[in-house]
Amino acid sequence: MLKLYSELAACWPLFSAPAEYKEEADCFQPLLFEACKTPPRTLLELGSGGGNNASHLKAHFQMTLVDLSPGMLAVSRALNPECEHFEGDMRTVRLGRVFDAVFIHDAIMYMTSAPDLRSAMETAFVHCRPGGVALFVPDHVRETFTPGTDHGGHDDGHRGLRYLEWTYDPDPNDTTYVVDFAYLLRETDGRTRVEHDRHIEGLFGREEWLQLLREVGFQPRGIVDAWGRDIFVGVFS
Ligand SMILES: C[S@@+](CC[C@H](N)C(=O)[O-])C[C@H]1O[C@@H](n2cnc3c(N)ncnc32)[C@H](O)[C@@H]1O
Repeated sequence: MLKLYSELAACWPLFSAPAEYKEEADCFQPLLFEACKTPPRTLLELGSGGGNNASHLKAHFQMTLVDLSPGMLAVSRALNPECEHFEGDMRTVRLGRVFDAVFIHDAIMYMTSAPDLRSAMETAFVHCRPGGVALFVPDHVRETFTPGTDHGGHDDGHRGLRYLEWTYDPDPNDTTYVVDFAYLLRETDGRTRVEHDRHIEGLFGREEWLQLLREVGFQPRGIVDAWGRDIFVGVFS
């Protein structure tokens, strides 16, 4: 498992604070309401991580959170004790019930092949009630992918983390790109250490997204969101 979601999972709030997800959560919530035939009440998030999205969306939905990483689930349970949490893989997890809406945000890019992406979509479909909706928010689609760098991080008064994120696509002919992270961690005693983490992420074209969503049973549409990202809504009609 990636360092960020295993040995460094407890540092997630230093990497990404809940407040950083508010603007996006404020856009996803009305999208989900508009796409559902009746106002959605229950929301399943797959790849819910440290629960930053949920910390905002739980004001509007009764939320069930699924993630592969026990460490990330522990962070989310502390932030969102009122939400249900399950450990599971978005490709295979089956909770045995349906939800008004299903949401996969910045975890869907860990689906690096078309069969894996299709499996995650199928999981969303089998957990969606008729009339419900699923929202998928990949970081990139093939048509608009651009290499780049970013940085961030926080302090908690004792420890601190800063990161450099470097995104590039070494082979434009495959379905993946690379995000290299360098983390600089300052411990409580003032010492610092550096960690490197390579995330391999999935890259698919718009039509591939729409076709896979159709194949699993959704009526899909693509939208360009406020950040210029291509995101996908699948309706179970
Ligand atoms: C960027 S984090 C998500 C952060 C989250 N949006 C939040 O609000 O805190 C990506 C998450 O995807 C999870 N993940 C990666 N592959 C997964 C899979 N196959 N099934 C479920 N979760 C997965 C990781 O464990 C990680 O917690």
